[in-house]
Amino acid sequence: MSNQQQLTIGLFGFGVVGEGIYQVLQQTPSLNASIKTICIKHADKERNAPTALFTTDENSILDDPEINVIVELIDDADAAYRIVKKAFANKKAIVSANKKMIAEHLEELLKIQKEHAISFLYEAAVCGSIPVIRNLEEYYDNDLLSSFSGIVNGSTNYILTKMSEDKLDFATALKQAQDLGFAESNPALDIEGIDAVNKLSIVLKHAYGITCLPSELIHRGINRLHPIDSIYAGEKGLQIKLVANAKHTGEQQIAAYVLPAFVNKDSQLYHVRNEFNGTIIGSKLADEQFLYGKGAGRFPTSSAVLSDIAALRYGYKYEYKKSDNPLKYTLSYSKEIKVYLSFNAHCDINRDDFTSIEESYSNHKRHFLIAYISLDKLNKATWLNNQSISLIVFNE
Ligand code: HSE
Repeated sequence: MSNQQQLTIGLFGFGVVGEGIYQVLQQTPSLNASIKTICIKHADKERNAPTALFTTDENSILDDPEINVIVELIDDADAAYRIVKKAFANKKAIVSANKKMIAEHLEELLKIQKEHAISFLYEAAVCGSIPVIRNLEEYYDNDLLSSFSGIVNGSTNYILTKMSEDKLDFATALKQAQDLGFAESNPALDIEGIDAVNKLSIVLKHAYGITCLPSELIHRGINRLHPIDSIYAGEKGLQIKLVANAKHTGEQQIAAYVLPAFVNKDSQLYHVRNEFNGTIIGSKLADEQFLYGKGAGRFPTSSAVLSDIAALRYGYKYEYKKSDNPLKYTLSYSKEIKVYLSFNAHCDINRDDFTSIEESYSNHKRHFLIAYISLDKLNKATWLNNQSISLIVFNE
């Protein structure tokens, strides 16, 4: 697509972000990009855009030869997958924010993308407004990137902030995150850590060239945290954050997981509040770099979508160079992590799974363990399925 070419967009979805990008494009005429048609699910809802723009027939966009760009901002990952595949087949460039769809189908989608040599950009899928993907893709060389540690889900960070600072209960804080348009339509994806692990699997592709399914990565959300955990954190001067980690553990070996984490004041992540996201990128030469910005919400997410649309003017494509590196990176589960567990009396925890136990004590409400465990044992620990066990990692 040349610099001069008019971008004629078919937009899928007119929710929080879809309506945002519609508004933003109207205010950015210099982009030479306009929305021709918008596909929505429910025709009867009132919309802040001319009725003539809307359709409920996805093929009227996908088969329209005038439309050369598909911007896909719907939350139904299966429908998004179908739309993106047909868009590839019809040679339309694609901008998507659907982390679930991308994470679950990345390998296949990239194969199709290569065949058709079409741009497929998704900066908004990871950390909202922060340009994480393009940075990992373009700037950081494989050998230099020693770690990625980030708060990548705005809703859970908003909930944890409100619980810690304003003493809101979990349900009220979640409701606020939903009302503000940060949460997924199915908020279980946020609070169970699924959205964060979807994002981590996309990060692994661009940071290390690792192709993996989110289900291969250890992940827990914030839904099993117990109020007593916040008391522990407060006493120790720590914050609880949901952190996505990828760390070099040896030659071409990466340990990757999403877990609630105790973060101390010295970490930049400690200061990331509300719906903001933050990622610390560890590099052998530059030491640590910190990227910070809004991770959810209408205009922050629209800014990333807009930047992808702008990049289409010069035919920008991710190259996935790290996947072609002869030295392949793989996931490793040998790393040991230090964890805190709080649980009820009846929980059957297999203590043999721990490499060592540093503390074990009880009060009248809960039992506590502070111990070291390998990711491998953690991954296989069926006792962790017990809903009343809260697990928090000590972030290094
Ligand atoms: N539900 C997501 C979040 C939206 O809270 O981060 C942005 O990806």
